[in-house]
Amino acid sequence: MKHHKTLLRLLVLFITSCFATAICAQFKNGQLWLATDGEHINAHGGNIIFHEGTYYWYGEHRPYRGFTTEKGIAVYSSADLQQWKNEGIALSVSEENGHDIERGCIMERPKVIYNKVTRKFVMLFHLELKGRGYEAARVAFAESDSPTGPFRYLRSTRLHAGKWPFNMNQQQIAAAKNTDASKWDKWWTPEWRKEVEKGMYLWRDMNSGQMSRDMTVYIDDDGRAYHLTSSQENLTLLISELTNDYLDYTGRYVMVAPGGQNEAPCIFKHDGRYWLICSGCTGWAPNEARLFTADNIWGPWHQLPSPFMGVATGYHDMPADKTFGAQGTYIMKTGKEFVFMADIWNPRHLSQSLHLWLPISFNEKELPVIKWTDNVPNEAEL
Ligand code: GAL
Repeated sequence: MKHHKTLLRLLVLFITSCFATAICAQFKNGQLWLATDGEHINAHGGNIIFHEGTYYWYGEHRPYRGFTTEKGIAVYSSADLQQWKNEGIALSVSEENGHDIERGCIMERPKVIYNKVTRKFVMLFHLELKGRGYEAARVAFAESDSPTGPFRYLRSTRLHAGKWPFNMNQQQIAAAKNTDASKWDKWWTPEWRKEVEKGMYLWRDMNSGQMSRDMTVYIDDDGRAYHLTSSQENLTLLISELTNDYLDYTGRYVMVAPGGQNEAPCIFKHDGRYWLICSGCTGWAPNEARLFTADNIWGPWHQLPSPFMGVATGYHDMPADKTFGAQGTYIMKTGKEFVFMADIWNPRHLSQSLHLWLPISFNEKELPVIKWTDNVPNEAEL
């Protein structure tokens, strides 16, 4: 009997110490990641913020079957980046017919940022209207007083109707106005590419506003926030400055890598230099990541080889040139470290898409390198 009691005590001690140090809960890349409710974390294409001692993870709440949004944007909280509590739906779909975020719309790649001046949590996300596939290509805004919501839906829009990128001169604007997208049925020819670089799709959408699909949001050291989005039929990225309240655009924006077909933008700044990691454009299927760098957020941006190296040993040996089977969603800074967060999409069961977190290191040339690691880093390691 006494023996049993001692065993029981030891077991309780072991379990509590496991929870305290998160040793037994070191989550593995390429596996399901269960929240404290016992369910796989259903927050995809999202981001993480740290607020008053707690991490908040926002992401797409995806159904087990189907592609449309049935619930909204999910939020989880954590003290250590390992154990996550399901905090429910931060922004819910609307039950009203014809509402922008009517149930059955598509809400993707939500990013939440905290505005220190207004003390509001601001959410931007990619919105597709119900029943219209991916043609609406809008960005949507929501805000909340609390990190777990409920977020209030504000509006959706295309970008910069009637406005040119601030760094285009009169000659460049005249050249763009000389293009005609309706003339080009055949994409990817050298002639077509030249027209895209001149701003053919920018000009096509000048009146209606620019398309906005895969996106992220970045707050610079001075508190200025920027929206980075895949625009112009996913061919060209736009970087746009947000107003002080983060709820609108100042009108200052640039095009990045015209015709480069970059999606899933993830950005970070290290030693004063900006780094941008994107994917190519192959839907849910993985492809090779692209790396860009600039001294100034407005560019010029230079492209470099993918930072991914090696293979995902133990995870189908997925190679670096397939981003280990994943597509980036956010680069989180914790302490001095940067963590590349990505989704291993499961298009058959999107809710089951896996999470991949890999630390970013720098080589002797000061270039970022991302290698496969089994363990998801925990807070103490970062
Ligand atoms: C991916 C994109 C995802 C989602 C998907 C739909 O390329 O990054 O966010 O839009 O396509 O097929």
